[in-house]
Amino acid sequence: MNDELLRLENVSINYKVRGGYLSAVKDVSFHVNRGEIFAVVGESGCGKSTVAHSIMRLLDKNAVVLGSIKYNGTNLMELSNKQITGVRGHDIGMIFQNPLDSLNPVYTTGAQVNEAIRLDGISKLEGWKKVIELYRNVKMPDAEKRVQAYPHEMSGGMRQRVMIAMMLSRNPSLLIADEPTTALDVTIEAQILEIISQLKKEFGTAVMLITHNFGLVAEVADRVAIMYAGELVEQGDVFEIFRAPKHPYTRLLMKALPRGTKQEGRLQTIDGTVPRLMEVQPGCRFANRCPMAKKICYEQDPAIRALSATHTYRCHFAEEEV
Ligand SMILES: Nc1ncnc2c1ncn2[C@@H]1O[C@H](COP(=O)(O)OP(=O)(O)OP(=O)(O)O)[C@@H](O)[C@H]1O
Ligand code: SF4
Ligand SMILES: [Mg+2]
Repeated sequence: MNDELLRLENVSINYKVRGGYLSAVKDVSFHVNRGEIFAVVGESGCGKSTVAHSIMRLLDKNAVVLGSIKYNGTNLMELSNKQITGVRGHDIGMIFQNPLDSLNPVYTTGAQVNEAIRLDGISKLEGWKKVIELYRNVKMPDAEKRVQAYPHEMSGGMRQRVMIAMMLSRNPSLLIADEPTTALDVTIEAQILEIISQLKKEFGTAVMLITHNFGLVAEVADRVAIMYAGELVEQGDVFEIFRAPKHPYTRLLMKALPRGTKQEGRLQTIDGTVPRLMEVQPGCRFANRCPMAKKICYEQDPAIRALSATHTYRCHFAEEEV
């Protein structure tokens, strides 16, 4: 059986804005295997959510997508609206960056999960039993009571649990989790990550985990991709990347890596600013912050270099030169 579940090939995404196009994602290629946790890491605004939404075909209307996005060999961009709705319901689940946006404030969270389950044709009563079971699966404190709580009565961590419970009920092959722990404190974050890891172990769910927090990656992911200003600059097995990061940006991230607290794990400690994506010139998008930059970096786009079958990076310079 082919291990590959999702493959993005040369995906570029531009947003039409006043005055032209904003190049949010440029020439991104990666794949996610069945049953693995694939992390996508990068600073705010580097295009992580844009990539995630393109897979679900949920991009804003002003987005233009180039390249191909294949799920189980089928190009998702060629499916009809009805077909892609089916894929979203059954094959690919997504936990959005802000769970409040995905929950309806006027219904209890239990009623919303029950509604999602009953799309599968079980009775309302059976549905409630299943909702409580799902809440227990995601370690919701006081599950029987909490099914009656409204979204605003829950903490951020509980709302994330509701979203994961909703996903669990559909048993997708691929779960896209867009910063599922950003708003949470460290203890709750660890619990949510544990639930996500369990999904992989118990149900064989593949997870695309989007995060700002490079520190998290080492704990849960099998492979990782690092994005910078819309480009994927390095990817590989977590072990390879942590042992021998190649791209100068990844190396700086490693240096800034948490020694303990979550706050320090955020990608904020590197000098300089990300280029404005309306103004990107030819050349490497990291050049204005890169300690290794040379003349060619400002003039030509770097190509992708392979260090091994699994480890690639995007830079003009070979392994021994950077
Ligand atoms: N509908 C839109 N129209 C124009 N620009 C957009 C639109 N949506 C996103 N962008 C821009 O595209 C770029 C990538 O945004 P995106 O939300 O994908 O980043 P991100 O990596 O998910 O950031 P964060 O970590 O803050 O969630 C940003 O510059 C953002 O301002
Ligand atoms: S191509 Fe140049 S600027 Fe870009 S990462 Fe490599 S050395 Fe740095
Ligand atoms: Mg985002």
